[in-house]
Amino acid sequence: GYPHFMLKEIYEQPEAFSKTVVPHVKDGLPSFERDEIPEGFFEKRRHIQIVACGTAMYAGTVGKNLIERFARIPVSVDVASEYRYNDPIVGPGDLVIVISQSGETADTLAALRLAKQKGADTLGIINVIGSSIAREADHVIYTHAGPEIAVASTKAFTVQMAVMFPLALELALKNGTVQPEACRELTSQLLKCRDAMEQALELTKTIPAIVEQAIDSPSLFYIGRGLDHALALEGSLKLKELSYLHSEAYAAGELKHGPISLITDGMPVIALATQQAVLPKTVSNMKEVKARGAKTLLICRHGETVDADAYDYRIDLPEAEDAFMPFTAAVAMQLIAYYKAVQSGCDVDKPRNLAKSVTVE
Ligand code: G6P
Repeated sequence: GYPHFMLKEIYEQPEAFSKTVVPHVKDGLPSFERDEIPEGFFEKRRHIQIVACGTAMYAGTVGKNLIERFARIPVSVDVASEYRYNDPIVGPGDLVIVISQSGETADTLAALRLAKQKGADTLGIINVIGSSIAREADHVIYTHAGPEIAVASTKAFTVQMAVMFPLALELALKNGTVQPEACRELTSQLLKCRDAMEQALELTKTIPAIVEQAIDSPSLFYIGRGLDHALALEGSLKLKELSYLHSEAYAAGELKHGPISLITDGMPVIALATQQAVLPKTVSNMKEVKARGAKTLLICRHGETVDADAYDYRIDLPEAEDAFMPFTAAVAMQLIAYYKAVQSGCDVDKPRNLAKSVTVE
């Protein structure tokens, strides 16, 4: 019923989200009973490392933000191919979380083995049951995206982000940084993200025309701050994977430390501005690039007041608290990349040179 697997998988996200989140919430609190993770596993964690590749690593970047936000535990995120050769400082008492859709990525598997060898406790966030990483990690939280056929990851990404909420909240409860009542409120907001993603799928009606007009250059930027920066990285990756455009994602405040020199007349800049706390800052970055000729596409929550002179195009996302905006932002990012690739006649489901699962170094 869909022209491409990727579009089908984008549409499957609300269901995959529920299948992943609902089993991890019990009486409004996070639950890992089903994963048979012992009670004490999340207690007294002082430092957490997240290791993954590609899109899974960007889900890990969202996870870092959420764990630090709610549990106030410092988290580092590493690309697995770097981690494994950088003699990481990790040992007993540390928690290393590896994230992988396939559970077979060679670098991620090697990073897991290294962390185990150094005595760390390991947790896999994995989509494929019985995969190598799932078998070797001390504990596993399964995501329930179902099989992903398109090479570009979509629903696996959103469920990896989704699982980060119960995980961050469990760590926060154990650390005493979030109380049960506040936690129940947060999980109820999380559960509403399914409907928000359903609503975001309505963007299939408007995004094709916006993409056609806004992205008409071989080179472009994505910018954002905080969670928006993580989503900008993922959006930019998706676009370059599928449409072969040169796209860079930058922390919006970092633009003036170099990349702003590349802004020329008509250069598209896609600005994610879903985080209310830093919205004025991102808007001012948009004005800076616009003053230098950029064509800006703003992605923000519905009803947000933003100076009309900051943007040329605008995509509105369903309203949610800052921490929950990545789900609908991800849908928008995916649809932008999908429609750009379709309009350019690219092979959406099998982009050149890419593999779904990278099992060799
Ligand atoms: C490949 C895929 C990406 C994926 C990455 C990590 O590069 O094309 O979509 O994000 O591997 O894969 P994993 O299975 O470990 O999540």
